[in-house]
Amino acid sequence: MGFARNNSVSAVISPLRIARVTLSDRASAGVYADLSGPEIERVLRETLGDGHTFIVRLIPDERAVIADTLRALCDDDACDLVVTTGGTGPAPRDVTPEATRDVLERELPGFGEAMRAVSFAKVPTAILSRATAGTRGRTLLINLPGNPRAIGECLPPLVPAIRECLKHLHGG
Ligand code: MTE
Repeated sequence: MGFARNNSVSAVISPLRIARVTLSDRASAGVYADLSGPEIERVLRETLGDGHTFIVRLIPDERAVIADTLRALCDDDACDLVVTTGGTGPAPRDVTPEATRDVLERELPGFGEAMRAVSFAKVPTAILSRATAGTRGRTLLINLPGNPRAIGECLPPLVPAIRECLKHLHGG
């Protein structure tokens, strides 16, 4: 799983398996290009460094499909980190937090609280995101909003907690 067995922070960022999962009916149908998934990868390469393996998924806003995809990324693909984008709002088709909770063993509500707090200062509509996070086995799962600009606002402030959480999940 590409995870060094010591406690240093640099060990945490030795090759990780990272999945970026875009949840969008329209992007998955080819109506428009997925800009948010690549943006997650760009931000994580910039903050965690190069050399990590990225696994890419682009799927519609279907709760069972999302849950099955997330479960497989944790249990079969042995991802260290799974980051989703989209489907966190109040619209009827927004089911990402529900699908994520279907697979989580333990919820980490602080990730959602932090991104809403950070973004609310800049964008009053940020509190419409119901994004959550948590763990399944040794995998950390995090929801992000679907707006590509939101990725750059929400994800960088979470990176210190992501590193620390991965250390804890791997026994550090
Ligand atoms: N957060 C930031 N930083 N920037 C944004 O533009 N958009 C908000 C919110 N969070 C936004 C944001 C809006 S308008 C919505 S509806 C919710 O995220 C949910 O978006 P999603 O359903 O695409 O996940």
